[in-house]
Amino acid sequence: MEKRLRIAVQKSGRLSEVSMELLAECGISIKNGKGALVASASNFPIDILYLRDDDIPQYVEDGTADLGILGENVLEESGVKVTIAKRLDFSKCRLSLAIPKGAAYEGIAYFHQKRIATSYPNILKKFLAANGLEADVHNISGSVEIAPNIGLADAICDIVSSGSTLLSNGLKEVAVIFQSEAVLIANPNLTTEGVAILEKLLFRLNAVMTARNNKYIVLNAPNEAIPNIINVLPGMKSPTVVPLAQEGWSALHSVLSEDQFWDVIGELKAAGAQGILVVPIEKMIL
Ligand code: PRP
Ligand code: ZN
Repeated sequence: MEKRLRIAVQKSGRLSEVSMELLAECGISIKNGKGALVASASNFPIDILYLRDDDIPQYVEDGTADLGILGENVLEESGVKVTIAKRLDFSKCRLSLAIPKGAAYEGIAYFHQKRIATSYPNILKKFLAANGLEADVHNISGSVEIAPNIGLADAICDIVSSGSTLLSNGLKEVAVIFQSEAVLIANPNLTTEGVAILEKLLFRLNAVMTARNNKYIVLNAPNEAIPNIINVLPGMKSPTVVPLAQEGWSALHSVLSEDQFWDVIGELKAAGAQGILVVPIEKMIL
């Protein structure tokens, strides 16, 4: 029988949809039976396990799942030893300490002897110990942000993304203790066949993620402007230049990162570029 890998993804929550979209962009099609806990890809040798994200590290460590997609915050809190196969550049957030917005704050010594509510007791205790602080860590599994308002704690340590949860609970973020993003993890003892499937998946992930950060640009310019325009462009290789039907004009094609594009757009126009088109790239293999 053909070897298949099992990949654990979050069943519902902040990562679940984006994780499945990423696999879809990698050309992996998964038919979801509604409410199913397991699903198979029809055109790639993987099966999907839908799990609570807190359970994913354990499943991957003991080999029940071979791979997993989860937030680094959850992985770090679990303390489990698995391989990070790729950082996935989505679901970026931070684990931060926050206090009532009216409280005076002069540094992390503030937290000494305080009561801190969190769902991340392991990361928090490590941070406190590393800073020589002693605090009373209350482990609660959800709605951490209301703890100060109901008198359960003096401070919280929780995930912050947009910051709106803190704001609406009258709290302010005063210290970041861990930076997180989604990661692809792997069981360290995959078989040779398993590693080959992981490598195929990584190849596709790289193509999709590189493409996302790059744009294909097309512009028109009079021929005499082309050398200056090429100087401005930091493209992959030298750009493609093709003659236009109109005598003395050319079209120039190149690939730029999104950031580079905004940096050079003004210079391109000043150098004589016209009709600039910016086109998304679906896959990019370097
Ligand atoms: C986290 C965190 C906050 C919220 C912060 O919860 O516990 O509630 O996100 O995000 P914001 O800064 O954008 O407001 P999450 O959605 O991960 O759910 P969970 O705590 O139930 O796991
Ligand atoms: Zn929450």
